[in-house]
Amino acid sequence: MADETKKRVFSGVQPTGKVTLGNYLGAIRNWTPLQESFDCLFCVVDLHSLTVRQVPAELRKNTLDLTALYIACGIDPSQSILFIQSHVHEHAELAWILDTVAYVGELNRMTQFKDKARRHADNINMGLMNYPVLMASDILLYQAEYIPVGKDQVQHVELARDIAVRFNSRYSDTFVVPQCMLSKTGSSIKSLQEPTAKMSKSDPDDNAVISLTDDPDAVRRKLRRAVTDSDTDAHCVRHDAAKPGISNLLNVYSLCSGVSVADAEKQFEGKGYGVFKEAVADAVVSVLQPIQAEQKRLLADKGYLERVLKEGAERASAIAQRTLSKVYRKVGLVPKIR
Ligand code: TYM
Repeated sequence: MADETKKRVFSGVQPTGKVTLGNYLGAIRNWTPLQESFDCLFCVVDLHSLTVRQVPAELRKNTLDLTALYIACGIDPSQSILFIQSHVHEHAELAWILDTVAYVGELNRMTQFKDKARRHADNINMGLMNYPVLMASDILLYQAEYIPVGKDQVQHVELARDIAVRFNSRYSDTFVVPQCMLSKTGSSIKSLQEPTAKMSKSDPDDNAVISLTDDPDAVRRKLRRAVTDSDTDAHCVRHDAAKPGISNLLNVYSLCSGVSVADAEKQFEGKGYGVFKEAVADAVVSVLQPIQAEQKRLLADKGYLERVLKEGAERASAIAQRTLSKVYRKVGLVPKIR
């Protein structure tokens, strides 16, 4: 049962391509400690993935892989609600109502839309543009107060806030107005090849991205090749805006090893980049290995995953139905006779 006395948290990841270390450090990892104090919903947002072309069989596989990954990363389905977005039809229905509240102008200004439209110039579909409205619907449907995401999603959460405030003032108080929860050092993990850009699932350069399924050899190889800096004091491991590559690796090291950035700077003083990169690789491998083993074990137990998803969808639907019928009533739709 959802605990109505606790504040609610909602977040999700798209089952598109391979989940990255950025997704883990910026989002999923930060969800697990919230489960104690908040009423949490974690969603595999498959409808969002359709905004770029997918191979149907791959999308199905990625969706189950991601479900298992959530659990392997510490999401406890007996505590939190874990479900697949398309299993709760209210997401798409509320999105339609919110479409009538969101403005084309504000959707046109979304950085991610502009970026994706550039990268998928042959497929600028309406879904791509409407995507932040569907995301607002995910959040508002559950009256979620806190949204733990990485920096790249802040603009979308702000739009969800704007839509909630606008709806509330037009139709009277209906939605909780959500806010972002950002991790201090993990909210923007950068590409290993272009350390001023974010590490992204869709990066065509495999060396730029550590995937959560990478084996230890791949992790070591990618980190050895990670772009660093050639400033005057090259080989000095320091967190510095002028050293974006090393700063990014320091963040990754700190998050994976538990050593603070300041202590890590001291630890690697005078040691050079080679030694540092090996230590980063060891720290990343030690985080990934248990997750990979647990994900594999869970994927072999299809019955368990199906039960989790069935129960998750039922628990999510119960909340979603309540919000949607309230919204339908507020906007003036005649209730269905049951
Ligand atoms: P997605 O699938 O692109 O990313 C999932 C989460 O990972 C974070 N993230 C990162 N954090 C740090 N460094 C990075 N390099 C990095 N790359 C990604 C993202 O910020 C995100 O938190 N629209 C969302 C999914 C979504 C959602 C929602 C999230 C749909 N509905 C409702 C929260 C609430 C997305 O595409 O995330």
